[in-house]
Amino acid sequence: MSRRTLRVSKIKDGTVIDHITRGHALNVIKILGIDGRENGVVTIAMNVPSQKLGVKDIVKIEGRELNPEEVDKIALIAPHATINIIRNYRVVEKQRVKLPSIIHGIIKCTNPPCISNSESEPVKPIFYVESEEPLKLRCHYCGHIMGKEDVLKQF
Ligand code: CTP
Ligand code: ZN
Repeated sequence: MSRRTLRVSKIKDGTVIDHITRGHALNVIKILGIDGRENGVVTIAMNVPSQKLGVKDIVKIEGRELNPEEVDKIALIAPHATINIIRNYRVVEKQRVKLPSIIHGIIKCTNPPCISNSESEPVKPIFYVESEEPLKLRCHYCGHIMGKEDVLKQF
């Protein structure tokens, strides 16, 4: 990349979520609960040319690392994302997000009569990942199939 095409600067300490499926940078921001009141710099880049994906989104968050639940949520909507931990300007850890084959908790079944939605019974939602892209989740209890849109509504 030449000097003229430098897009976003490197960060000193924090997390870079790279290779986000195009169009999902703002959903990642939502998953992480970022609302602009944080102290560190947050950079959002959309439609960045990528060899692997054609175009991709990137989110850089200064001074923050992610917890496992946040990483799992990102995996649901951006299965190719990589989480880079940056310390003193260097990538000290690079992790590709990975969806487990069975998801416990995190999301709810969108089928209202499903037993996992009943107020009286403490039933933890369980889903089987039938396909990552396009996302297809099957509820363990009622067999209801959910896609990315059903998941996004919950974040
Ligand atoms: N990055 C950053 N600040 C740093 C170091 C890296 O913002 N101090 C960003 C890079 O711009 C890139 C991501 O973190 O978006 C990963 O960095 P790096 O591993 O150096 O890039 P690549 O080798 O291109 O990553 P990959 O192999 O995962 O495509
Ligand atoms: Zn269900």
